[in-house]
Amino acid sequence: MTTVLFATSEVHPLVKTGGLADISGSLPPALRALGHDVRLILPAYPQVLARCERLMTLVKLIPLQGAPTPVRILEGILPDTDVPVYLVDCPTYFDRMGGIYGDATGDWPDNPQRFTLFSRAVVALTKGWPGLVWKPEVVHCNDWQTGLVPALLSLEEYRPKTIFTIHNLSYQGVFSWGTFVELGLPMGLWSLEGLEFYGRLSFIKGGLAYADRLTTVSPTYAREIRTPTFGYGLEGLIESRAERLFGILNGANYDHWDPQNDPYLPYHYSAADFSGKSANKAALQRHFGLPVRSDVVLFGFVGRMVEQKGFDLVLSCLPEWTQHQLQIVVLGSGDPVFEQGSQVLATRFPAQVAVRVGYDEALAHLIEAGADAFLMPSRFEPCGLNQLYSLRYGTLPVVRRTGGLADTVVDATPENIAAGRATGFVFNAATQASLNKTLVRVLNLYYNNPTIWKRMIEFAMAADYGWDKSARTYADLYQHAMVG
Ligand code: ADP
Ligand code: GLC
Repeated sequence: MTTVLFATSEVHPLVKTGGLADISGSLPPALRALGHDVRLILPAYPQVLARCERLMTLVKLIPLQGAPTPVRILEGILPDTDVPVYLVDCPTYFDRMGGIYGDATGDWPDNPQRFTLFSRAVVALTKGWPGLVWKPEVVHCNDWQTGLVPALLSLEEYRPKTIFTIHNLSYQGVFSWGTFVELGLPMGLWSLEGLEFYGRLSFIKGGLAYADRLTTVSPTYAREIRTPTFGYGLEGLIESRAERLFGILNGANYDHWDPQNDPYLPYHYSAADFSGKSANKAALQRHFGLPVRSDVVLFGFVGRMVEQKGFDLVLSCLPEWTQHQLQIVVLGSGDPVFEQGSQVLATRFPAQVAVRVGYDEALAHLIEAGADAFLMPSRFEPCGLNQLYSLRYGTLPVVRRTGGLADTVVDATPENIAAGRATGFVFNAATQASLNKTLVRVLNLYYNNPTIWKRMIEFAMAADYGWDKSARTYADLYQHAMVG
């Protein structure tokens, strides 16, 4: 049994901007089910204070360097689990309207201060908070917001082992040298091998350079980030630590994502009893004001409208696609140019294209259930969760061969179909031409080969990407880190 503190900036169902929250809300309970004592720590944002269960004050006042006001530590329980949650309550930094990283005008300018304070609170816990006898053997950090934790802990004589998981290398938390000075970080951390990155301060380097073990969220992405295309200048450092880097595929949380008992769905279904799927399709078409037609293939997209997700490719292909018999529903937010671009297309092609800009958990579930195929033409995708949900919902994913998409979706080649393996459509080049070609393959199979389409749905729904295997791999890694 290992004691683990899981440090993260977001956790579903308390607060979520993307897949990191899904993982933070699923891996700790999965590890606890295996007998490990895993606890979460995150900032006390208002939405978290509102949703966390059994909240109480654990430490009234904790002195932390750089804290603008006294910091309080609260303790609660992650809803529907037995996972203890520690909340770092510093209202000046965390109690504000808008998103957790910024608002419509951009990132919060004091993000370096906010996440340095959070990291200092994590380090303080490992040294012993008043009122808490528990100490972790391992601190599991996630993304740049927690990158300073391994760096700061590296300076301690007695310290837990550190794991740093890269969920997305393109978000690095890079700030000025002046910020480094202002934060009062130890000078010993400022070096080429440390936090310095081309004369600036890099939070993610704190994790990459100092953690005892590095992980990322799929085997393919673990290889990709060692190359210049995906490494963003950090490939050299990552390569130098390759022996300590592991690609562990994320799991899908089938407690929340299973069409047989998903509470967000009007109709439940399974591979054996599939009729609910077409009822959900009609509900989805009605929801978006599209003509209710069972004979037209319906594509879904849910996600951040950013270049990473290849959303620009979708937008540039759409006018041509509308010449075919198809419909597409889009839910997401992100780059304002893409948000507006998609809305313009929805106005131009009202019988085929429908768009909802925003964040809507219930609608994301209905799209997974109601669509026939799911578009995810990402330029890079460390793991990706929506393709996993799509597989389970019998909504064939259309993906680019990168990162976790390459590791989880099997292309509909004649050989893969014959072998009973094909679960979706995979293409190589991030180009309009390549995506267009793939669309033709999808339409061809959907309209001309319904028997094969149905068989692929069965393969897809039977694929198992649950947490059990990945959680065991993390548990082994913790053990491994503790012995050396
Ligand atoms: P990323 O973390 O890169 O955004 P993932 O595929 O790992 O991508 O995870 C995205 C998660 O966020 C999924 O659970 C997805 O359903 C959810 N999501 C993304 N955008 C929205 C949205 N606009 N409304 C509801 N859920 C969303
Ligand atoms: C990131 C990645 C995504 C991954 C998620 C959870 O946001 O972009 O691919 O699934 O983290 O690890």
